[in-house]
Amino acid sequence: MDQDIKFYSRPSVPVELHKVRVVQKLHLKSVDERLRAIREGGFNTFLLNTKDIFLDMLTDSGTNAMSDNQIASMLQADDAYSGSQSFYRMEEALREVFGKHYVLPVHQGRAAENVISQVFVNEGDVIPMNYHFTTTKAHMEINGGTVLEIYTDEALKIKSTNPFKGNMDIQRLKDVIAEYGVEHVPFIRMEASTNLIGGQPYSMQNMKDVKAIADEHGIMIVLDASLIGENAYFIKKREAAYKDVSIKEILNEMCAMSDIVYFSSRKVSSTRGGGIVTDSEELMLKMRDLIPLYEGFMTYGGMSVREIEAMAVGLRETLDETVIGQSPAFIEYAVNELDDMGIPVVMPAGALGCHIDAKQFLPHVSQLDYSAGALAAALFIVSGCRGMERGTISMDRDADGNDVASDMELLRLAFPRRVFTLSQTNFLLDRLKWLHENREIIGGLKFVEEPAVLRFFMGRLDAVSDWPEKLVAKFKADFGDSL
Ligand code: F0G
Repeated sequence: MDQDIKFYSRPSVPVELHKVRVVQKLHLKSVDERLRAIREGGFNTFLLNTKDIFLDMLTDSGTNAMSDNQIASMLQADDAYSGSQSFYRMEEALREVFGKHYVLPVHQGRAAENVISQVFVNEGDVIPMNYHFTTTKAHMEINGGTVLEIYTDEALKIKSTNPFKGNMDIQRLKDVIAEYGVEHVPFIRMEASTNLIGGQPYSMQNMKDVKAIADEHGIMIVLDASLIGENAYFIKKREAAYKDVSIKEILNEMCAMSDIVYFSSRKVSSTRGGGIVTDSEELMLKMRDLIPLYEGFMTYGGMSVREIEAMAVGLRETLDETVIGQSPAFIEYAVNELDDMGIPVVMPAGALGCHIDAKQFLPHVSQLDYSAGALAAALFIVSGCRGMERGTISMDRDADGNDVASDMELLRLAFPRRVFTLSQTNFLLDRLKWLHENREIIGGLKFVEEPAVLRFFMGRLDAVSDWPEKLVAKFKADFGDSL
């Protein structure tokens, strides 16, 4: 089913194959109020209050729009501590979509990472992966493991034409297994639509190559399927051999090559919650007893039954190309427009959001002055649009207390599925253009309160100079009374 809409004059304009039936009012506050809000939030967009935000592009996690059928399904939720019919409906949906038999429910993606890391990661282990995710790395390290990122040379290039920058480097994978020894590699982790390098997919061919190495050494593959729908969509669009293969078949094939699949349902099915699925009874039994310990009984895993019902429907909707293709279409539009304006943005367009390169946007601000964090704060001040820093602030300090400059210094602007309109997207692009023209005004940030682990969530920072006030003054000079 291919429902691409062709335009005569504007082939790149994305079109929604849904209509809006429930809306939420938004407010665009004045630039002075926005400056006050970001100061109160310690220049950390995680600490902003949504009453001060216009377009919330922090994440797609738990913020994708639900469908009418998802909301309707919540009415038939079966409230029960154990044996709920809602769980069995969700289990059926998971078996259909991921093609795996055993289902362990968890309250969100990182809870799955906790269970998997506690069971399989031991002191001194190394875990090869195409790239880390913040919570994944933290859980593996807490259990004594070390994350090894086995990406290709293309992965960290901001502007590339490579359609699969999320691929694993097969030769390097062979090398690390030889170097550390099979006994220290509990599993290989593949992350669909690799989040931190710009939502970049891997190809089915690459997964097949990884699987061949894993089989040769008897190593498990663990798939982080939080953004699997989009990765499957890109395989269909970008990998010639899969042009005529259905999304369901692609998903099943990706999962069939994995021993354990886990996911954040906050992303994959527009709800809350998460899960771990496997076909191996042995693996399931190793993890099972941690579910009631950390999550809740086996038939709810920390989720409400309403969420479980909506998750079942949302998972099946992931098989619809017009659903999973909506966010990538808007991202592609925004990325192409930004590139035309000369704004450095991760290319090709991937899943989840636009990723602006703070190193090139703010060459005068060092990574150790947190350029991506400064850019996120500056964009909020001039637009009310909230993005997320995905750079050095998102890395924790090393064992000696030194800051670790991240591979990529990105401002992520998420496009939650079916949430924003094209005119809102154009408003964002317009403010980014102005910010780029006035980028010399922006300066760095410094920590004033810094948690030791996952500091990007709750850390508080301040501007290193009065650059925020100067930015507001220039904004007022150019925009007058306009918001
Ligand atoms: N894995 C990936 C690839 C993710 O993107 C996330 C969450 C998780 C695991 C953890 O899942 O939040 O349900 O506990 N990503 C969100 C984001 C937070 O904004 O990118 P969770």
